[in-house]
This record gives sequence, C-alpha cells and structure tokens, in this order.
Amino acid sequence: MATISVQDAPSTVTILKQTPQLLSLMTIIRDVRTQRGDFVFYSNRIIRLLVEEGLNHLPVEECVVSTPTDLSYAGLKFQGKICGVSIMRAGESMEQGLRDCCRSVRIGKILIQRDDETAEAKLYYAKLPEDIASRYVLLLDPMLATGGSAIMAVDVLISKGVPEERILFLNLISSPEGIDAFAARFPKLKVVTGFIDQGLNDKKFVIPGLGDFGDRYYCL
Ligand code: PRP
Repeated sequence: MATISVQDAPSTVTILKQTPQLLSLMTIIRDVRTQRGDFVFYSNRIIRLLVEEGLNHLPVEECVVSTPTDLSYAGLKFQGKICGVSIMRAGESMEQGLRDCCRSVRIGKILIQRDDETAEAKLYYAKLPEDIASRYVLLLDPMLATGGSAIMAVDVLISKGVPEERILFLNLISSPEGIDAFAARFPKLKVVTGFIDQGLNDKKFVIPGLGDFGDRYYCL
C-alpha cells in the first residue's frame, strides 16, 4: 500500500492544516454511523475550509484604496477572473461552498462516472462557461481515488484552452495513488486536499476513506 506523508507530497499539493477542528470534522464524516443530515453539514464545513485555502493560491496584485479616515491603504486584489467546475455528481456538493466565498461565481459541470465494476472513468457530458480559457478554474470533486475522473476532467478543461497552471483542484480526501498519478500527468497543476489517506482497496475505494461520498451526501 502506498503512503505519502505531508513532507513527501508533491510540491504542487497543499494538505489542509490538520487542526483539531478539521480532524474532528473528518472524524464525523468518516464515521459509518453518521447520518446524511450530519454528513452534509460537516462535509460542507470542510468544503468551506478547502475553498478558503484554495483562494489563497490564486494570484493577487497590489492596489491602493482610500479609507473613510481619508488615508490610503496599500492592499491586494485578485488578479484574474475565476470559475468553478464540478465533477458530477459528488463535486456538485462543493458548489455552494464556492458560492459562499465568491458571490455569483460561474460554474461549469462535467459529468464523469466511474464504472462500478472496473472503476474506469467515463465522460458523459460537459457544459462550461464560454470564456473559460481566460479564467482560473477551481475544479471540484470530494474524492481522488485512482485519479481517473479528475485526470479526465482536466483533459476536458485543457481541450477548451485552459492552461494547466490556471487550474486548482480541490478535494476532501485523496489516495496516494491518485495524488501520484495526477502529479505525474499534470506537474504544474495545484491540488488542495483535506488529507492523503492510506491507499485504495480492491474496489479502488480510498481507505480508510468515507465510502461513496455521492451516496452519503445525496442518497443514504
Ligand atoms: C467518485 C468521486 C470521484 C471519483 C473518484 O465518483 O466523486 O468523482 O469517484 O474516483 P477516481 O479517482 O478513481 O476516478 P463516482 O464516479 O462514484 O460518481 P458520483 O459522483 O456519482 O458518486
């Protein structure tokens, strides 16, 4: 089983600071006894932390504003336009967290599903903002297992003209295998993850993981 410690993670990968708060939230959503209402609520809290951290990785430029005290304040502002792209279905759970931080952000959707038997990703549908090539893209999917779905989604974005270095992939839990496959394929693409788990089981589920995120968030 592969393992990646915080220190060994590729330089493009940021793992959220493992605070007592984050660890407590992760414990709740990993617990098989947690019911859907709590799963949704506590996942949303982690998603918010991921979005907040992700925004720290977007480029900013200096700017000066005047304050009501008639003085100048030398500050910062985001440099470019952004959009979100969720990998359906589970990735849609992360859209509200992004909207809570970036009001009226444009959001594209890519429907990719893993085959239940082979775990191979299959692309069904993509609808993206027309000017996506000129935006920074926050790619949203809670789980990175084999990496097949996320790699396919990035291939779609690149085919639409988005440079790899303008994509930021946000996810709650990664496998070492997924992190390695993703970094090997896209060495300039930044990833922000909540944690890198132990590995994959024979069904290609992340372990210890939390099971099927989409089922737990939407169905169970
Ligand atoms: C899950 C998850 C990721 C993908 C990760 O989605 O949300 O999209 O699997 O696995 P991978 O890294 O091996 O590709 P799934 O296809 O089960 O669909 P869902 O979003 O409907 O649950």
